[in-house]
Amino acid sequence: MSKIVGIDLGTTFSAIAILDDLGNPEVLSDPINNNRITRSAVYVGREKAIVGDKAIDAAVTNKKNTILEVKSEMENDVVWSTSKGQWIDRDGKKDVKGYTPSQISSLILSKLKDYTSGVKKAVVTVPAMFAEAARVATIDAAKLAKLDVELINEPTAAVLHYANLPGVSISGRVLIFDLGGGTFDITIAAVKDKKIDVITSVGDKHLGGRRFDEEIIKILDKKYKKAKGKGLDDLNDEKLFLIAERIKKILSNKETVSEIIEGPKGPQKIDITRKEFENSIDTYVEKIKMLMEEALERADCKPSNIQQTLLVGGSTRMPFVSEIIKKIMKKAPVKGVNVDEAVACGAAIYAGIQNKDELNPSQKKAIAKVDLQDICNFYMGTLMATIDQEKDQWGVVNDVVIPRDTKLPCSITKNYAVLHDDQETIDCSVTQSEGEESNIDFVVVIAKEPLKLSKNAKQGDPVEVTYSYDTNGKMHCVFQEMKSKKKHEMTLKPDGSKEFKKLKDELDFDIE
Ligand SMILES: Nc1ncnc2c1ncn2[C@@H]1O[C@H](COP(=O)(O)OP(=O)(O)OP(=O)(O)O)[C@@H](O)[C@H]1O
Ligand SMILES: [Mg+2]
Repeated sequence: MSKIVGIDLGTTFSAIAILDDLGNPEVLSDPINNNRITRSAVYVGREKAIVGDKAIDAAVTNKKNTILEVKSEMENDVVWSTSKGQWIDRDGKKDVKGYTPSQISSLILSKLKDYTSGVKKAVVTVPAMFAEAARVATIDAAKLAKLDVELINEPTAAVLHYANLPGVSISGRVLIFDLGGGTFDITIAAVKDKKIDVITSVGDKHLGGRRFDEEIIKILDKKYKKAKGKGLDDLNDEKLFLIAERIKKILSNKETVSEIIEGPKGPQKIDITRKEFENSIDTYVEKIKMLMEEALERADCKPSNIQQTLLVGGSTRMPFVSEIIKKIMKKAPVKGVNVDEAVACGAAIYAGIQNKDELNPSQKKAIAKVDLQDICNFYMGTLMATIDQEKDQWGVVNDVVIPRDTKLPCSITKNYAVLHDDQETIDCSVTQSEGEESNIDFVVVIAKEPLKLSKNAKQGDPVEVTYSYDTNGKMHCVFQEMKSKKKHEMTLKPDGSKEFKKLKDELDFDIE
């Protein structure tokens, strides 16, 4: 029987989980070192790729071949150049030499997949606010790793795990606070027994532990310079990042840390206090508070309406997190869920729900009552021509069809019209945006195909646009000229990119 797994493909650490014979999620360890979480670091050699902590060791001697935080690049059209040792913008040119984010991520997925045998299907998690392009690249990565894949949002996976824990009984609204290595997500969901209704998600794709490590490095550099008259050589040195991460973790438990730092002028003992560190990340903390307020506002609730705050992600171990939660929510967050593993465990549960036929009776029973209702995380719209009242001239604007936070499944129809007599085609554009935008510069066009109109199309002839979004993230769009009933249909499900075959042909590594 093929195994179905859940994978948390994190910016800094990744994890894989499976449902055990009784239907409880179980995190699988790296058989070599028994680690339950694997560093999302990749070293690419000539024929061999190394994933995990050992890739960082390789970075010390061969930095240009080591790729970190690939998840932050998933939505970008970039490649990693091993000759330059950096991401290069492809500007739409597909023949720029280097590895795409999906190729690099596929190596992480392949490594995790081999922690057990016979894995064919996976649910891979993505941040709630991951845009279409990043989701497509994640699907490419999974396919390159020879996995049949479905995606689920990270906070949704976390709440699935939490609601399914034995002995947990919540009835009411919960706030999932997910602060990881690279991204920050807040989700508010209504939970009753094992039924979960996601209400809203907000987030920042570039706020997480790596940014905090950078601040520690800046403090070390400043203090080294003050003591020795010269700053540290390379602030991007991965060894320095490891030291900074260690200091940060100690500061989660202690008020002060002393560390001997090697620099261009020899070793120097440097002390850092938690207060100093917290001051240095002040702008990030303010952003986090702002996003908490925004999530509450979007969910139309007050802190007193939230029964529990759940912590997810390694960075939630930092004391400031519980402090701001206590301050804003007037209640301490819930302890007891493994913040490193909750997302992978939730993904394994979702994998079970989506593949019930492959479960044994105990597994089926364990997840029988779990029910999930997710939302559309973006505004989905289309482009239309309209008169700009101020300029008194025609212009193209974005018009929202499905508003953000609409419960899935949904189907929404909007009415438009043919622009001028004898118009031959309509551009059927589908757009995505985080905000409710009319300005086309702030939306991403994720699909654009023509609808050929009937011969005698007249200005004002009605055109109906219907978007139907199902629970698996699949959106069906119909653009129809009502007079002739001619229509153009598009099914949008992130399903891998058009260049998938090329990506596959280029990748031939042994993975360690
Ligand atoms: N005790 C601790 N104190 C402070 N930070 C910690 C601690 N333990 C882990 N972290 C940080 O948590 C981060 C890793 O968390 P996690 O594994 O949840 O992130 P991720 O899944 O890689 O990232 P993302 O979810 O943002 O893609 C790292 O930056 C790590 O340094
Ligand atoms: Mg994570």
